[in-house]
This record gives sequence, C-alpha cells and structure tokens, in this order.
Amino acid sequence: MGAATLAHQPPANFVDGPWAVETYGLTKRFDNNVAVNDVELLVPRGCAFGYLGPNGAGKTTLIRVLLGLTHADAGTMKLLGVEVPKHRDVALARVGAIVDEPRFHAHLTGRENLEILAAARERAARGRIDAAMERVGMAQRADLKVAKYSMGMRQRLGVAACLLGDPQLLILDEPMNGLDPAGMHEMRDMIKGLVAEGRTVMLSSHLLDEVERTCDAVAIVDRGKVIRQGSITELLAGAAMEIEIDCDAPERARTLLAATPLGGTLKVRESGLSIELASGSGRGAIAEINRVLVHEGIDVYRLQEIQVSLESWFLQVTSRLGEPT
Ligand SMILES: Nc1ncnc2c1ncn2[C@@H]1O[C@H](COP(=O)(O)OP(=O)(O)O)[C@@H](O)[C@H]1O
Ligand SMILES: [Mg+2]
Repeated sequence: MGAATLAHQPPANFVDGPWAVETYGLTKRFDNNVAVNDVELLVPRGCAFGYLGPNGAGKTTLIRVLLGLTHADAGTMKLLGVEVPKHRDVALARVGAIVDEPRFHAHLTGRENLEILAAARERAARGRIDAAMERVGMAQRADLKVAKYSMGMRQRLGVAACLLGDPQLLILDEPMNGLDPAGMHEMRDMIKGLVAEGRTVMLSSHLLDEVERTCDAVAIVDRGKVIRQGSITELLAGAAMEIEIDCDAPERARTLLAATPLGGTLKVRESGLSIELASGSGRGAIAEINRVLVHEGIDVYRLQEIQVSLESWFLQVTSRLGEPT
C-alpha cells in the first residue's frame, strides 16, 4: 500500500472501537457561561442515542463542538473511533449531521437539491440519491419543488442528504422540532429504520417522551453537565418500582404490608392498592408481598409492576439536583 492510499485510510481503530461518540472532559465556555461542562459522553454503536435536556442545557453547543463547527476549550473526543478535530475529515466522511434547520434551494426539487449536494461529495454519492429518497419515504416527492414541502418533508430531505455519504453515524439536533404528531411518528420510524441498518443515530431533544420512545440509550444533560447516561432500561432499573396489588382486602393488605420491612410507600387508589418500593428492590420484593398476603388468607388476584416512565425518573433527578448535598 502506497503512502498516497494510506493518507486516505482511517486509523486502525476505525471500525473496532465500541463507541460511535466518545468525549472526555469536554468543555466549552461562552465567557462565564459553561455551555458544555466537563462532559464524558459514551455513545454505543448501533443504537439510537438521545442527548436529552431542557432548552439552554448545551445540546446544540456539544453537537457543534463534535462536528468541529466551534472549538472546545478543553477535553478530547472521538467520532467512530477517530480522534477529532485532529482527523476531522476522516471522521466526518462517515458522519451525517443536521444542526439547525436544513437549508435547501426552495425553487429546486428535492432531487435537484440532492444532486447539488452529491456533486460536492465522493462519486458514489450521486448513485445513492434514489435509495436515500426511498429510505426517507420521499421517492414520490422527489420531483416536487422544495418550496412545496412541509416542515416534515424538509426534515426528511435533510436526512436523505445525510445519507448521501452512507454515514455510520448520524447526528441530528432536535429532529422532532417543528413537526406535528404525524411528522414525529415518521421521524421516529425513520430513525429506528436507520438503526436497524446498523447505523448509529445520536439525536438531541428536550422532549423526554420522544427520547423514551425513540432511543435505546440516553444521556441526561442539565446546565452543560451530563447527570446520567446509559441504556434506558438500565436507567429505569435505578428508579423506584411501583407494584399494583389487586386483592380482596386492600385495606387489610395495606396494614399488613405497612408492618413488614419492605419499606415502601403504600397508597390505596381507585385501581387498587399500590406500593412504591425503594430503588434496587429486586423482584424478590414482589414475591415477598405475595407471601405476606397469602399467608394472612388474603386472595391475591394480580401483582403488577408499573413502568416508571423516563419522564418521572427525569423529574426525580432534577428535583434531587435542587436539594442541598
Ligand atoms: N454563540 C454563542 N454565544 C454565546 N452564548 C451561547 C452561544 N451559543 C450558545 N450559547 C449559550 O450556551 C448555552 C447552551 O446553549 P445551547 O447549546 O444552544 O443549548 P440547547 O441546544 O440545549 O438549547 C445557553 O446558555 C446559550 O445561551
Ligand atoms: Mg439547541
């Protein structure tokens, strides 16, 4: 292999690293405002990853830093195992990104816009136009002028534009913004489809519900700092667990359970008795509830674990933040 070819070869760890995005100590300040504060972010490959936080949390700034659109004040980062900004061109060749609203020539058709974008890329890009339009469900609209596109269609054209580079990683800043419920649904399906093809999608969002529905893993960011990150299942496992108890004597069951060392908060609701157990109480706690009730002659019809939504978990975390440590 000659030196000329080598210059275009990605570093050896290009495919092997487990992380699509990796940052350590990443920091970006605007005067006294620390928009990205010592962020260690690890985005696993092949998943939909949500960078979730309220407005002003520093999501767009982090993405701009990752893409080299602005410089970090401190820290290191890798995209697809490639160090950036050092090897930015190598990394970005396999990354598609949408930051801010995608801009297109309104008087041209979707396809014409993609042709212009493809011309600026490698030769294979032009051959990907039809597949990209197909992929985002826009094949029928390809020859319509962009001026006639809805917001959702523009967003999808934006994703199609990303796909021209056959990216391993897509970074989408607030892709649900400005979309109506149907548009959000389409975007969600599209993201899941891209992940099913083996790509990694990192998206930012201030919509907890959307992240919960779209993503496999999440980092929760507040005032520039990542407070928690991990798979959504993992994060939920750390949350309090609520068990709904359907039995023939809810009041007596309540008294009985209150006297046990299970230590939960008991509530009698319309739907029946429920007990909220401390985080970390395993499934054994459910079996114990059953044993206590059955032992006292109470008929148990149903014990059901209620899914704690990421939203309630998020609220727990943010409210805890306000407490003195
Ligand atoms: N170019 C800039 N100059 C000064 N401050 C900025 C700039 N861009 C963002 N900020 C500030 O950085 C913080 C994070 O902003 P941003 O990354 O846009 O948050 P998000 O995308 O999560 O809403 C905010 O306090 C914002 O005002
Ligand atoms: Mg933003």
